Amino acid sequence: MSESFKETECLIIGTGIAGATCAYIAAKAGLRVCLLTKRSDPSLTNTNLAQGGIVYSGHGDSPELLKQDILKAGRNLNSLEAVDFLSRQGPGIVKEVLIDDLNVNFTHLKGPEDESYDLTREGAHSIHRILYAADHTGQDIEKSLIEALEGLENVEIITNATAIDLITLHHHSMDVQARYLLEDRCAGAYVFLEKKKEVLTILAQYTVLATGGLGDIFLHSTSEKGTVGDGIVMAMRAGADTINMEFMQFHPTTLYLPGARRFLLSEALRGEGARLVNLRGEYFMDRYNPELKDLAPRDETAIAIWDEMIENKEDHVLLDIANFVHEDIPTRFPKIYATCRQAGIDITREPVPVVPAAHYFCGGVHVNNLGRTTLNGLYAVGEVSCTGLHGANRLASTSLLEGLVWGYYAAKDIADRINSGETIRSGMLHSVRDWIPTGNVENEDPALIAQDWASIKSTMWNYVGIVRTRQRLKIAIEDLRHMYLRIEEFYRETPVSKDIISLFHGTQAAILVADAAFRNRNSIGCHFLRDHTGSARPYPAMRRNYIQ
Ligand code: SIN
Repeated sequence: MSESFKETECLIIGTGIAGATCAYIAAKAGLRVCLLTKRSDPSLTNTNLAQGGIVYSGHGDSPELLKQDILKAGRNLNSLEAVDFLSRQGPGIVKEVLIDDLNVNFTHLKGPEDESYDLTREGAHSIHRILYAADHTGQDIEKSLIEALEGLENVEIITNATAIDLITLHHHSMDVQARYLLEDRCAGAYVFLEKKKEVLTILAQYTVLATGGLGDIFLHSTSEKGTVGDGIVMAMRAGADTINMEFMQFHPTTLYLPGARRFLLSEALRGEGARLVNLRGEYFMDRYNPELKDLAPRDETAIAIWDEMIENKEDHVLLDIANFVHEDIPTRFPKIYATCRQAGIDITREPVPVVPAAHYFCGGVHVNNLGRTTLNGLYAVGEVSCTGLHGANRLASTSLLEGLVWGYYAAKDIADRINSGETIRSGMLHSVRDWIPTGNVENEDPALIAQDWASIKSTMWNYVGIVRTRQRLKIAIEDLRHMYLRIEEFYRETPVSKDIISLFHGTQAAILVADAAFRNRNSIGCHFLRDHTGSARPYPAMRRNYIQ
């Protein structure tokens, strides 16, 4: 074992609400925690970009009512166990961790001195039950969590650290006995340190993936840059199951500025009354969902916008905030107001151009209610995981809650297992070999990497996007596989770097999504097939996902 290694009890990869909560609870339980982010600042996460809010509990609310809303939005493809768990546990953990412990400054009804919180509503919720902090809920939660972690001695946060591969005893131990273990065991990760340009071996009793989803493999997304499915493909390569990989959720409303990265326009705007209108002046959601109208579930709304754009040969529709939101808009939605203002749009006076964008991945690494994956010693929490909570389409504002709840319980479970002595013995842990360097052909060319990304993202957007057809999916798979052969070779022969790891991971993630979409002939939720031919198969037709 070289100098370039570190040992910890709990390794957590990713610093959004799920990873940070897991780190916080694990550290409070007395564990040594190592928390990694590939970014330069731990608060640069998807959580930080979340605007709308976090599900809490509304007037007249109950776990049963929340459960019904989640199941309806998820087209009943949800795990009943996960839905039940979140509906019962969620509000209590929000109170314990975010309100009582971290004092997150959620918006109150009349002002901070008033005890009761204001609650908003979003698409497909039957009542107002969402706790929010103006339109920067995620940013406030993230800040509180990172500040709390920075004050804890048993937490080490490492930035600019990109995980390359998970370590498992079957794959990486040099102890002959490891090959005879019936069940493989995760034992940490190999991590590329960008500043030192070296690979660190981190040995860990328990490893938690909290790397977020894969929105950035699509041309237009609301994700933090570089969210390309790292955790999902590392888990897959290590032998953990992935599930529901076809379910990419598209958010109906992001600011449309040609050439600019998509900026989210929270569904809370429609929760407060805003309405979608096409360029002919028709408030078109009445036609698509006469009951819920602009508050229809996200999948329906995104498809409706897509169809309006195609039918009218337009590249966007409009969101009319000015005529329908009766609150003081700059106070209620300060970030959105300021961003649009900067782009020359006054949302208090004029409609805003909007388009859908890839937003949230409902599939991922298969986990149970404690965040355990099918690989012993490996956990996954937050968007990288698939708890089954969201089924075929996620209900708004459940993602922060899912990250919080699963981060919390994964930490408790890891602490219990460590305290009861369920650990890898030292000799076996230290038998893990160092990272074997990739090749030394210095041919990393930013132009080639940029071109590969452009191809992957446009293939995913055009062929594996909001409206899918069998023909488009087939072409996508062929193109992605062809590209993968070349990228894999490039990965093997070139010195490792953050950009190469990202491209390698992103290509694999794209193939997994396209493959799963092709295999599922059932058009359901955010896997929307326009021309689904042949008989619908009972779901799941095939659950496991592989790169072949
Ligand atoms: C939003 O504010 O519209 C996003 C909330 C979510 O994705 O749950």
